Amino acid sequence: MPPDNVPDDFVASPLRDNWYQSSSFYGSSFALITSVDETGVTNIGPYQLSFPFEVIKRRSWMVISRPSSNTVANVRRNLKCALNFVEYDRAQIETILKFGYPGQTTAEKTAYNTFTLVDSATPGRTGPGMPQIIKEAYQVFECTLDVERIAANPILRDSPSAHLLLNIDNILVKSRWKSLIDGSGDEMPRVPLTYGFRGGATFWFGEAQPAYKLPIPDLGMRHEVVHYEANRLDDVVRFTLDASKTLTGIPRPFLRQVLEGIVRQAKARGVTEVNPEFLAALNKKSG
Ligand SMILES: Cc1cc2nc3c(=O)[nH]c(=O)nc-3n(C[C@H](O)[C@H](O)[C@H](O)COP(=O)(O)O)c2cc1C
Repeated sequence: MPPDNVPDDFVASPLRDNWYQSSSFYGSSFALITSVDETGVTNIGPYQLSFPFEVIKRRSWMVISRPSSNTVANVRRNLKCALNFVEYDRAQIETILKFGYPGQTTAEKTAYNTFTLVDSATPGRTGPGMPQIIKEAYQVFECTLDVERIAANPILRDSPSAHLLLNIDNILVKSRWKSLIDGSGDEMPRVPLTYGFRGGATFWFGEAQPAYKLPIPDLGMRHEVVHYEANRLDDVVRFTLDASKTLTGIPRPFLRQVLEGIVRQAKARGVTEVNPEFLAALNKKSG
């Protein structure tokens, strides 16, 4: 709430180009995108407009860039890039800001780079056109440009910005963080924030406060909850919505365990779709 003497009314903010930072507040994290320049050297470009795009069945990512960036030219040429996510580090923010200054060559950026670029350990992910990755990152997404689906989509194809629809081939997470993805620990990576370029002379950054967790409110078991939970457990086995509807009677504390059991049974039988018939057969077997 604002102090008593500060106005609290909404006023219109006219749309301008790059409206997310020229007409409004938009704070988020960003990716450092590595891609290979025409001399074979890995380039680093920071991108805030960089989000999960398809999250069910397909794993894809959207990057929105000025069309003349090194990253766009490199990714269109080689189809490959890596999205590197680094933790907040005040000293490294200066380098990131400098990387974001348009018009620099990769050689110019390499001269002051304070990050460590290393080869990817993923098989087939080194060699011509394959970007190095940032050693300090807490995670890296290795991606391939989806040229066909961009060409097939007029919004992506005809935009005055470059919209890079990237299929995520591999997600690499530092081992120290991998076991904490499920929220079982007390820590999350210290994600850096940016609010972008504002006022012609400044670029805004922020530091995330330490993460904390809250228990999920108990609003009763809904099939949507079962469905969401069930389809996150395995990369192959999928639950149909009807199957999820038959599982709403499971008490919350046991849900995960029961769903994991069903996935195990499905895998043991080579079943990839859990539907009501499969559940009925399982029930019958277990009496
Ligand atoms: C934190 C940060 C986030 C940025 N996000 C974007 C973005 O989402 N889209 C964009 O076109 N430029 C963005 N920029 C500016 C680009 O980094 C800039 O165009 C830079 O020249 C890109 O590097 P590259 O040409 O080597 O790809 C951002 C800059 C910074 C510092």
